[in-house]
Amino acid sequence: MASFGPIAPHYDLLMANVPYDMWAGYYRLLLTRHQLDPDTLLDVCCGTGTLAELLAESGYQVTGFDLSEQMITEARRKAVAKDLQIEYHVADATSLDLPDQYEGAYSFFDSLNYITTLEGLRDAIHHVARHILPGGSFIFDLNTPYAFEQRMFDQEDQRKRALIKYYWKGDYNPETKIIRVEMDFERNDEVFQEVHVQRAHSDEEVRDALRDAGFITCDIYDSYTLDRPNKTSDRVHYVAILPD
Ligand SMILES: C[S@@+](CC[C@H](N)C(=O)[O-])C[C@H]1O[C@@H](n2cnc3c(N)ncnc32)[C@H](O)[C@@H]1O
Repeated sequence: MASFGPIAPHYDLLMANVPYDMWAGYYRLLLTRHQLDPDTLLDVCCGTGTLAELLAESGYQVTGFDLSEQMITEARRKAVAKDLQIEYHVADATSLDLPDQYEGAYSFFDSLNYITTLEGLRDAIHHVARHILPGGSFIFDLNTPYAFEQRMFDQEDQRKRALIKYYWKGDYNPETKIIRVEMDFERNDEVFQEVHVQRAHSDEEVRDALRDAGFITCDIYDSYTLDRPNKTSDRVHYVAILPD
C-alpha cells in the first residue's frame, strides 16, 4: 500500500494544526545562528510545499522535490494558485539528479525517516550534498528512536466534526529500528488507508553519512530550540555545512 498517495489531496487538511510558520522561523533562526545567508534553497521531500511557499514568500528562491507524484501535483497546484514561482520535481532523494545547485537545502517533518535503510540514508545525504554549493548547508529534522519507543504514531481523531478523521497504529521493532504504521482515514464519505514505514536512524549513522558526504560542520539541536538534545528528545534538527 502506497504512502503519500491517497492522502495527498487531503494532506494540508491533516496538517491544519501544524505550525509551519514557526518551522519557517526556526529554519531562519538556525541559518542566522550559523551565519548562513542563502538565497537559493532546495526543499528535500517537500510534500505539498507548504514550507517552500512560506520561504518563497519571504524572498528565497525555492525549488522542491518529492518522491510522490500526487504530493507534487498538490504543491504545483498551490504554487499556481498563490502565484509563487517555485519549481517542483518528482524525484527520489536517494538518486537525486537535478540540473542545479543551491546555497542551502532543508528537509522537515521526518521526511528522511521515510528512507528505511542505512544505505538509502547515506545515498540521500550524498546526493543532496552534490546539489549544494560550497559553503552551503543542509538543515533537516529526524524523529529519534525515543519517539518510536514512545509510540508517537499511535494517534487518532474521531471527533464528529473533525475535517478528516483518522486512526493510526504503529508497530516498532527496536532490533531493525523500523516502525510500520497502519493509517486509516475518513473524509466525508471516502475511506482510505496508507501504510507508512520509517527508520530511526542513529545519531552516529547520520554523522558518519554527513562526514562521508563532505560536510565539515555538524550541529544537532532538540527540535525548535537551541538546546542540545536530551534522552527524551523525540525530534532533532541537524545543521550540516559544506566547506567553502
Ligand atoms: C511527512 S511528509 C513531509 C512533507 C513536507 N516536508 C512537510 O513538511 O509537510 C514526508 C515526505 O517525504 C517524501 N519522501 C519519502 N521518501 C522520499 C524519497 N526517497 N525521496 C523524496 N521524497 C521522499 C514523501 O513522499 C512525503 O511527501
